[in-house]
Amino acid sequence: MIRLDGVGQVFDGREGSITALEKIDLHVRAGEFVTLIGRSGCGKSTLLRLIAGLLSPTSGTVKVAGKPVTGPSPDVAFMFQRPALLAWRSVLSNVLLPVELDRTIRDRTAYKNRAHELLELVGLQGFERRLPHELSGGMQQRVSLCRSLIRDPQVMLMDEPFSALDALTRTELSEELQRIKMELSTTIVFVTHSIDEAVVLADRAVVLSPRPGRLRDVVEIDIPRPRSLGQNSHLADVARISARLHALLSDKTPPVAERLVDEVWPR
Ligand SMILES: Nc1ncnc2c1ncn2[C@@H]1O[C@H](COP(=O)(O)OP(=O)(O)O)[C@@H](O)[C@H]1O
Ligand SMILES: [Mg+2]
Repeated sequence: MIRLDGVGQVFDGREGSITALEKIDLHVRAGEFVTLIGRSGCGKSTLLRLIAGLLSPTSGTVKVAGKPVTGPSPDVAFMFQRPALLAWRSVLSNVLLPVELDRTIRDRTAYKNRAHELLELVGLQGFERRLPHELSGGMQQRVSLCRSLIRDPQVMLMDEPFSALDALTRTELSEELQRIKMELSTTIVFVTHSIDEAVVLADRAVVLSPRPGRLRDVVEIDIPRPRSLGQNSHLADVARISARLHALLSDKTPPVAERLVDEVWPR
Protein backbone atom coordinates (compact mmCIF):
# COMPACT_ATOMS: atom_id res chain seq x y z
CA MET A 1 0.00 0.00 0.00
CA ILE A 2 2.85 2.37 0.87
CA ARG A 3 6.29 2.14 -0.69
CA LEU A 4 9.25 4.37 0.03
CA ASP A 5 12.44 3.60 -1.86
CA GLY A 6 15.71 5.38 -1.17
CA VAL A 7 13.89 8.38 0.26
CA GLY A 8 15.91 11.32 1.47
CA GLN A 9 14.83 14.75 2.65
CA VAL A 10 17.13 17.74 2.97
CA PHE A 11 15.89 21.07 4.28
CA ASP A 12 17.72 24.28 3.45
CA GLY A 13 17.80 26.57 6.46
CA ARG A 14 19.56 29.80 7.37
CA GLU A 15 22.38 27.91 9.08
CA GLY A 16 22.95 25.53 6.18
CA SER A 17 21.08 22.42 5.18
CA ILE A 18 19.61 19.77 7.48
CA THR A 19 19.38 16.16 6.34
CA ALA A 20 16.13 15.12 7.99
CA LEU A 21 15.90 11.69 6.36
CA GLU A 22 18.40 9.53 4.52
CA LYS A 23 18.03 6.34 2.44
CA ILE A 24 14.67 5.25 3.78
CA ASP A 25 13.29 2.03 2.32
CA LEU A 26 9.93 1.15 3.81
CA HIS A 27 7.11 -0.99 2.50
CA VAL A 28 3.78 -1.17 4.30
CA ARG A 29 1.26 -3.86 3.36
CA ALA A 30 -2.44 -3.11 2.83
CA GLY A 31 -4.29 -3.27 6.13
CA GLU A 32 -1.12 -3.25 8.18
CA PHE A 33 -0.69 -1.20 11.35
CA VAL A 34 2.82 0.22 11.52
CA THR A 35 4.19 2.44 14.28
CA LEU A 36 7.09 4.77 13.60
CA ILE A 37 9.14 5.30 16.70
CA GLY A 38 12.15 7.52 17.31
CA ARG A 39 13.46 10.42 19.32
CA SER A 40 12.23 13.93 18.83
CA GLY A 41 13.69 15.45 15.66
CA CYS A 42 14.55 12.16 13.94
CA GLY A 43 12.23 12.87 11.01
CA LYS A 44 9.00 11.05 11.90
CA SER A 45 6.68 13.92 10.99
CA THR A 46 8.69 14.56 7.84
CA LEU A 47 8.19 10.94 6.81
CA LEU A 48 4.42 11.21 7.31
CA ARG A 49 4.29 14.47 5.35
CA LEU A 50 6.08 12.75 2.46
CA ILE A 51 3.52 9.91 2.44
CA ALA A 52 0.68 12.47 2.64
CA GLY A 53 2.04 14.38 -0.35
CA LEU A 54 2.49 17.55 1.74
CA LEU A 55 6.18 17.47 0.90
CA SER A 56 8.07 15.98 -2.02
CA PRO A 57 11.30 14.10 -1.30
CA THR A 58 14.68 15.49 -2.34
CA SER A 59 15.65 11.96 -3.36
CA GLY A 60 13.95 8.61 -3.88
CA THR A 61 10.33 7.73 -4.56
CA VAL A 62 7.13 7.56 -2.52
CA LYS A 63 4.18 5.50 -3.77
CA VAL A 64 0.73 4.88 -2.33
CA ALA A 65 -1.40 2.08 -3.80
CA GLY A 66 1.12 1.72 -6.62
CA LYS A 67 0.96 5.35 -7.73
CA PRO A 68 3.65 8.00 -7.17
CA VAL A 69 2.50 10.57 -4.61
CA THR A 70 2.21 14.00 -6.21
CA GLY A 71 0.10 15.84 -3.65
CA PRO A 72 -2.59 15.39 -1.00
CA SER A 73 -5.34 12.90 -1.81
CA PRO A 74 -8.61 11.91 -0.10
CA ASP A 75 -7.27 8.33 -0.03
CA VAL A 76 -4.68 9.41 2.51
CA ALA A 77 -5.97 10.97 5.75
CA PHE A 78 -3.89 12.76 8.34
CA MET A 79 -4.54 13.07 12.06
CA PHE A 80 -2.49 15.39 14.26
CA GLN A 81 -1.54 15.67 17.92
CA ARG A 82 -4.17 18.38 18.50
CA PRO A 83 -7.75 17.79 17.38
CA ALA A 84 -7.91 21.15 15.50
CA LEU A 85 -11.71 21.25 15.49
CA LEU A 86 -13.56 24.38 14.40
CA ALA A 87 -14.90 25.88 17.64
CA TRP A 88 -18.16 27.24 16.19
CA ARG A 89 -19.15 24.02 14.42
CA SER A 90 -21.01 21.11 15.95
CA VAL A 91 -19.41 17.69 16.33
CA LEU A 92 -21.31 16.41 13.30
CA SER A 93 -20.37 19.30 11.03
CA ASN A 94 -16.74 19.06 12.12
CA VAL A 95 -16.74 15.42 11.04
CA LEU A 96 -18.33 16.39 7.71
CA LEU A 97 -15.87 19.21 7.01
CA PRO A 98 -13.65 17.31 4.52
CA VAL A 99 -16.77 16.43 2.52
CA GLU A 100 -17.99 20.03 2.48
CA LEU A 101 -14.60 21.29 1.36
CA ASP A 102 -14.64 19.02 -1.68
CA ARG A 103 -16.83 20.68 -4.29
CA THR A 104 -16.79 17.63 -6.54
CA ILE A 105 -19.00 15.77 -4.05
CA ARG A 106 -22.67 16.17 -4.99
CA ASP A 107 -24.50 13.73 -2.80
CA ARG A 108 -23.78 14.41 0.85
CA THR A 109 -26.49 12.17 2.35
CA ALA A 110 -24.37 9.03 2.32
CA TYR A 111 -21.59 10.89 4.14
CA LYS A 112 -24.00 12.15 6.75
CA ASN A 113 -25.07 8.59 7.49
CA ARG A 114 -21.44 7.53 7.57
CA ALA A 115 -20.64 10.34 10.04
CA HIS A 116 -23.34 9.03 12.39
CA GLU A 117 -21.94 5.50 12.07
CA LEU A 118 -18.41 6.65 12.82
CA LEU A 119 -19.50 8.71 15.83
CA GLU A 120 -21.28 5.64 17.13
CA LEU A 121 -18.15 3.56 16.54
CA VAL A 122 -16.15 5.85 18.86
CA GLY A 123 -18.93 6.08 21.44
CA LEU A 124 -20.07 9.62 20.66
CA GLN A 125 -23.65 8.95 19.65
CA GLY A 126 -25.83 11.65 21.21
CA PHE A 127 -23.06 14.25 20.99
CA GLU A 128 -23.64 15.21 17.33
CA ARG A 129 -24.95 18.69 18.13
CA ARG A 130 -22.45 19.56 20.83
CA LEU A 131 -19.72 22.12 20.31
CA PRO A 132 -16.03 21.17 20.75
CA HIS A 133 -15.60 23.12 24.02
CA GLU A 134 -18.32 20.97 25.59
CA LEU A 135 -16.18 17.85 25.10
CA SER A 136 -13.13 16.47 26.94
CA GLY A 137 -9.76 16.25 25.19
CA GLY A 138 -10.22 12.55 24.54
CA MET A 139 -13.68 13.11 23.05
CA GLN A 140 -12.35 15.89 20.82
CA GLN A 141 -9.64 13.58 19.55
CA ARG A 142 -12.32 10.94 18.83
CA VAL A 143 -14.16 13.54 16.72
CA SER A 144 -10.92 14.26 14.91
CA LEU A 145 -10.54 10.52 14.27
CA CYS A 146 -14.03 10.37 12.74
CA ARG A 147 -13.21 13.38 10.56
CA SER A 148 -10.09 11.58 9.26
CA LEU A 149 -12.17 8.50 8.45
CA ILE A 150 -15.17 10.20 6.83
CA ARG A 151 -13.92 9.78 3.26
CA ASP A 152 -13.00 6.15 3.87
CA PRO A 153 -9.27 6.61 3.25
CA GLN A 154 -7.06 3.71 2.23
CA VAL A 155 -4.30 5.07 4.41
CA MET A 156 -4.42 6.87 7.72
CA LEU A 157 -1.39 8.76 8.98
CA MET A 158 -1.40 9.62 12.67
CA ASP A 159 1.18 11.98 14.13
CA GLU A 160 1.39 11.38 17.90
CA PRO A 161 -2.40 11.70 18.12
CA PHE A 162 -2.72 10.70 21.78
CA SER A 163 0.37 12.34 23.24
CA ALA A 164 -1.45 15.42 24.56
CA LEU A 165 -3.95 13.28 26.51
CA ASP A 166 -3.75 12.01 30.07
CA ALA A 167 -2.46 8.45 30.57
CA LEU A 168 -5.85 6.85 31.22
CA THR A 169 -7.49 8.44 28.17
CA ARG A 170 -4.50 7.42 26.08
CA THR A 171 -4.93 3.81 27.19
CA GLU A 172 -8.64 3.90 26.34
CA LEU A 173 -8.07 5.45 22.95
CA SER A 174 -5.34 3.02 21.99
CA GLU A 175 -7.67 0.13 22.81
CA GLU A 176 -10.43 1.77 20.83
CA LEU A 177 -8.19 2.38 17.86
CA GLN A 178 -7.33 -1.34 17.74
CA ARG A 179 -11.01 -2.22 17.79
CA ILE A 180 -11.75 0.28 14.99
CA LYS A 181 -8.79 -1.04 13.04
CA MET A 182 -10.25 -4.55 13.24
CA GLU A 183 -13.53 -3.26 11.74
CA LEU A 184 -12.01 -1.17 8.96
CA SER A 185 -9.36 -2.24 6.48
CA THR A 186 -7.45 1.05 6.63
CA THR A 187 -3.66 0.88 6.53
CA ILE A 188 -2.28 2.87 9.45
CA VAL A 189 1.07 4.54 10.04
CA PHE A 190 1.15 5.85 13.58
CA VAL A 191 3.97 8.03 14.90
CA THR A 192 4.84 7.85 18.56
CA HIS A 193 7.77 8.27 20.89
CA SER A 194 6.17 5.97 23.42
CA ILE A 195 7.49 2.39 23.47
CA ASP A 196 4.30 1.21 25.23
CA GLU A 197 2.10 2.67 22.53
CA ALA A 198 4.25 1.20 19.76
CA VAL A 199 4.04 -2.30 21.31
CA VAL A 200 0.32 -2.22 21.99
CA LEU A 201 -0.74 -0.90 18.60
CA ALA A 202 1.56 -2.18 15.92
CA ASP A 203 1.93 -5.21 13.70
CA ARG A 204 5.43 -3.86 13.10
CA ALA A 205 7.38 -1.08 14.82
CA VAL A 206 9.77 0.86 12.61
CA VAL A 207 12.61 2.41 14.58
CA LEU A 208 14.25 5.58 13.26
CA SER A 209 17.66 6.77 14.38
CA PRO A 210 18.31 10.51 14.65
CA ARG A 211 20.40 12.96 12.63
CA PRO A 212 20.08 12.09 9.89
CA GLY A 213 16.88 10.08 10.28
CA ARG A 214 17.55 6.56 9.13
CA LEU A 215 15.69 3.33 9.38
CA ARG A 216 17.35 1.66 12.34
CA ASP A 217 15.41 -1.59 12.42
CA VAL A 218 11.94 -3.06 12.01
CA VAL A 219 10.50 -5.13 14.87
CA GLU A 220 7.65 -7.60 14.30
CA ILE A 221 5.12 -7.53 17.11
CA ASP A 222 3.43 -10.92 17.14
CA ILE A 223 1.36 -10.51 20.31
CA PRO A 224 -2.31 -11.62 20.00
CA ARG A 225 -4.98 -8.88 19.88
CA PRO A 226 -6.70 -7.12 21.46
CA ARG A 227 -3.77 -5.87 23.47
CA SER A 228 -3.93 -3.51 26.39
CA LEU A 229 -1.62 -1.03 28.06
CA GLY A 230 -3.46 -1.63 31.32
CA GLN A 231 -3.98 -5.41 31.42
CA ASN A 232 -1.49 -8.02 32.50
CA SER A 233 -1.95 -10.35 29.55
CA HIS A 234 1.05 -11.36 27.42
CA LEU A 235 3.27 -9.52 29.86
CA ALA A 236 6.39 -11.51 29.01
CA ASP A 237 6.03 -10.80 25.28
CA VAL A 238 5.38 -7.11 25.91
CA ALA A 239 8.45 -6.90 28.16
CA ARG A 240 10.65 -8.70 25.62
CA ILE A 241 9.64 -6.46 22.70
CA SER A 242 9.75 -3.28 24.81
CA ALA A 243 13.29 -4.13 25.87
CA ARG A 244 14.28 -4.67 22.24
CA LEU A 245 12.80 -1.31 21.19
CA HIS A 246 14.44 0.40 24.13
CA ALA A 247 17.83 -1.03 23.15
CA LEU A 248 17.38 0.06 19.54
CA LEU A 249 16.38 3.58 20.57
CA SER A 250 19.29 4.06 22.96
CA ASP A 251 22.01 2.28 21.00
CA LYS A 252 24.35 4.71 19.29
CA THR A 253 26.29 2.20 17.18
CA PRO A 254 25.30 2.06 13.50
CA PRO A 255 23.03 -0.76 12.28
CA VAL A 256 24.68 -4.06 11.43
CA ALA A 257 24.26 -3.75 7.64
CA GLU A 258 25.91 -0.35 7.72
CA ARG A 259 28.82 -1.56 9.85
CA LEU A 260 29.47 -4.35 7.33
CA VAL A 261 29.44 -1.89 4.44
CA ASP A 262 31.89 0.33 6.34
CA GLU A 263 34.21 -2.59 6.90
CA VAL A 264 34.20 -3.61 3.23
CA TRP A 265 34.23 -0.10 1.74
CA PRO A 266 35.59 2.32 4.35
CA ARG A 267 34.28 5.87 3.80
N1 LIG B 1 10.12 22.70 6.99
C1 LIG B 1 11.30 22.49 7.58
N2 LIG B 1 12.35 23.31 7.35
C2 LIG B 1 13.54 23.09 7.93
N3 LIG B 1 13.81 22.07 8.75
C3 LIG B 1 12.82 21.22 9.03
C4 LIG B 1 11.50 21.37 8.46
N4 LIG B 1 10.71 20.37 8.91
C5 LIG B 1 11.50 19.62 9.72
N5 LIG B 1 12.75 20.12 9.79
C6 LIG B 1 13.88 19.53 10.55
O1 LIG B 1 13.98 18.16 10.20
C7 LIG B 1 14.27 17.36 11.34
C8 LIG B 1 13.17 16.32 11.54
O2 LIG B 1 11.97 16.97 11.93
P1 LIG B 1 10.61 16.20 12.22
O3 LIG B 1 10.26 15.37 11.06
O4 LIG B 1 9.62 17.22 12.65
O5 LIG B 1 11.03 15.28 13.46
P2 LIG B 1 10.11 14.45 14.48
O6 LIG B 1 8.71 14.49 14.01
O7 LIG B 1 10.71 13.07 14.49
O8 LIG B 1 10.29 15.10 15.82
C9 LIG B 1 14.42 18.32 12.50
O9 LIG B 1 15.81 18.59 12.66
C10 LIG B 1 13.68 19.55 12.05
O10 LIG B 1 14.20 20.70 12.63
MG1 LIG C 1 6.96 15.20 14.92
